[in-house]
Amino acid sequence: MLSGRRLYSVASRFVTATKPTDGLVGAIGNTPLIRIGSLSKETGCEILGKAEFMNPGGSVKDRAALFVVEDAERKGLIKPGGTVVEGTAGNTGIGLAHVCRAKGYKCVIYMPNTQSQEKIDLLKMLGADVRPVPAVAFENPDNYNHQAKRFAESIDNAVWTNQFDNTANRQAHIETTGPEIWAQTGGKIDGFTCATGTAGTFAGVTRYLKEMSDGRVKSFAADPPGSVIYGYIKSGGKEMIRGGSSITEGIGQGRITANLQPDIHLVDDALKIEDADTIAMLYRLLDEEGIYLGASSALNVVAAYQMAKILGPGKTIVTMLCDGAYRYQSRLFSRKWLESKDLIGAIPKHLEKYIVLA
Ligand SMILES: Cc1ncc(COP(=O)(O)O)c(C=O)c1O
Repeated sequence: MLSGRRLYSVASRFVTATKPTDGLVGAIGNTPLIRIGSLSKETGCEILGKAEFMNPGGSVKDRAALFVVEDAERKGLIKPGGTVVEGTAGNTGIGLAHVCRAKGYKCVIYMPNTQSQEKIDLLKMLGADVRPVPAVAFENPDNYNHQAKRFAESIDNAVWTNQFDNTANRQAHIETTGPEIWAQTGGKIDGFTCATGTAGTFAGVTRYLKEMSDGRVKSFAADPPGSVIYGYIKSGGKEMIRGGSSITEGIGQGRITANLQPDIHLVDDALKIEDADTIAMLYRLLDEEGIYLGASSALNVVAAYQMAKILGPGKTIVTMLCDGAYRYQSRLFSRKWLESKDLIGAIPKHLEKYIVLA
């Protein structure tokens, strides 16, 4: 029997009143901004990570997925019951698969056959028609993006959402991610950094923060080995050096996409982050903060840490925590895989206990 005595306080610190969302798509965005205590203490800066892994599809790409589909609807490119086709390394596909089920569309995903099995399985479980194709350069007509475009053109009531060059992707971050970061920091933000895949996130957030701060907020592009963005920015747009590779998935780029082009002049600097630093940060954040991140997010946090050192104490730096490690755990926590990438040595001895898979 309930005694009638209150077992709870009237204003619980765990409760903030948010209204019910309009379906799954209404639950995209409005993610928490997490203060990373250990790194903030070490640098004397506030280092904040936008917890995009808390989106319903588990990544930052839910935002772009919703915006490109709604853009196609607005332009009359897709009618009820139609098919959404995309070339994606995984997370955009997962976001699109969720959005397509929620809106009653079919979803066809072309991807390079180098992607993790966890991502492929999840896409299939979400009802998508997954088509892994050989990983060839963008210039090759059989690149997964070109195959996606051709397929969409070959059937009725279908749209190729074209995440790389469809600026509705960047618009998602101008209209949602940027304003959220500005509101969550009360405008007290000095620097923003993250890596680029399509560059929708980096360009959209940079554009918004630059406009709101009259150019005061600094923006640094973070880049993995093998990507051209770092060299392009460092050389003032003169160099596009290819070559090299990285363990990160979803980031790294061989060209300047239409999502990045309009805003590249706003970028203040670039940071190249080595895989050894990324993997060490991934394990450190798990151990010290309890945050379980994918490699692109760990790379972003290394970039935020380096940016804090460059800008100096007292500054507030924001980066993106794009997705969790769940989709990559068979690699990131496998001794064999880490050895194959020559990364075992990058993980400090006291963190080796997290390498739980053979
Ligand atoms: C894990 C992960 N991180 C980062 C990104 C990059 O985001 P954007 O395409 O907005 O540059 C992606 C894109 O697919 C991703 O999957």
